[in-house]
Amino acid sequence: MPNERGGDLLIYPQCRRSGCAHAIEVTLTTLARPGSNILLPRPGYPYYDACAANRNLEVRHYGLLSDHGWEVDLDTVESLTDHNTAAIVIVNPGNPCGNVYSYEHLKKIVETARKLGILVIADKVYGHLAFGSNPFVAMGVFGSIAPVITLGSILKRWIVPRWRLGWLVISDPNNVVLAAAALLWVNQ
Ligand SMILES: Cc1ncc(COP(=O)(O)O)c(C=O)c1O
Repeated sequence: MPNERGGDLLIYPQCRRSGCAHAIEVTLTTLARPGSNILLPRPGYPYYDACAANRNLEVRHYGLLSDHGWEVDLDTVESLTDHNTAAIVIVNPGNPCGNVYSYEHLKKIVETARKLGILVIADKVYGHLAFGSNPFVAMGVFGSIAPVITLGSILKRWIVPRWRLGWLVISDPNNVVLAAAALLWVNQ
């Protein structure tokens, strides 16, 4: 299947959920461990903060650069990350800033995640409501660089309020997540 850049889009297992909000809850519950933390954008969609607080997942906010199309401040991301950081959340297209990141910026984010050894959680709930000159690119196309968990739902795209259908998709062709889970299981 062709993706937004004309390359091949690999299909990965999907997990259907009751709206994107439920997909967020499931993902954060899975990542929460004693002492672990997660990187969230500021400004951002506050449901992530609430879900993390409910799960004792420490929140660390990275900045978005208002004078650079609300791009991720990757220097802050690096300075906030430690060995207890589980993931970085990227909302693209953004809420509340309306940013639509370029292919190059998304690639840089995933390369940074790989360098730091963290997962990328890509919220694409507004994936087909992108405005401006940048075309929407699904973060999952970079799953071979670092594992990407994509969260979405039908509500925004199809403008069907109260239709609670969402999903999460793991793009991880190198099975990094599976290998880490197996290691955890063996060490238990
Ligand atoms: C960025 C973002 N992610 C997720 C959601 C939740 O989506 P859903 O209504 O499908 O649960 C919203 C809702 O406003 C949102 O703005």
